[in-house]
Amino acid sequence: MKVERKFDGVYFLADERAFLATENLKPGESVYGERIERVGGKEYREWDPHRSKPSAAIQKGCRAFPFARGSKVLYLGAGSGTTASHISDIVGDEGKVFCVDVAYRPMRDFLERVAKKRENVVAILSDARHPLLYRWMVEECDVAYCDVAQQDQTKIMLDNCELYLKPGGHAVIAVKARSISSVARPEETYREEARKIRDAGYEIVEQVDLEPYAEAHRMITSVRKGRR
Ligand SMILES: C[S@@+](CC[C@H](N)C(=O)[O-])C[C@H]1O[C@@H](n2cnc3c(N)ncnc32)[C@H](O)[C@@H]1O
Repeated sequence: MKVERKFDGVYFLADERAFLATENLKPGESVYGERIERVGGKEYREWDPHRSKPSAAIQKGCRAFPFARGSKVLYLGAGSGTTASHISDIVGDEGKVFCVDVAYRPMRDFLERVAKKRENVVAILSDARHPLLYRWMVEECDVAYCDVAQQDQTKIMLDNCELYLKPGGHAVIAVKARSISSVARPEETYREEARKIRDAGYEIVEQVDLEPYAEAHRMITSVRKGRR
């Protein structure tokens, strides 16, 4: 099995097929039934681009990937933790992932599968439209990642960044065009959301379409202007 480093904690593994993986922070444990491989004394968990948008962005050749060892990450719309578990692998024990979700059901699975077992994850059952509600639980972050699939998804991200993202930190949003407008062309929707991000004082560093892994989704990565 060949292992090639792609980003901090992220690797391409290849045997008869190539696949993306993160180095497992909790060796021996699979979170959602994903394939596990041990190579050269390390353990890797397959990171499926069909199930996880940052993995799709890497498969699509993104170059801006701000999640790194030691990062503090605010994750809006963590769901049952599929992607959050990989971000937890990447940031490692020195980092932290503050995971917000408004829905009880996925959060219950999130607690069982991810938060109970990973000390670098903080589970927050709350509405990301009201970021002040969890102020007491969240530290200043290096990265904010938003995957809430709501009509006002960009505003949700920006309101949270205002409170929690460092100047110079990265704001990453998986824009789901169909949640914003079912009639506009996705391209128009992406342009409009990108404009809102720029108008709020962010510099857009990359935009990556996530098709065919996630239909009508685009990952927009930006940097909050200002000095650290
Ligand atoms: C597309 S799913 C997230 C999938 C997850 N990011 C992953 O990759 O594993 C969107 C999630 O956003 C959550 N959500 C929607 N509106 C929200 C809000 N206002 N505040 C917090 N979470 C929200 C939903 O409950 C749902 O779990």
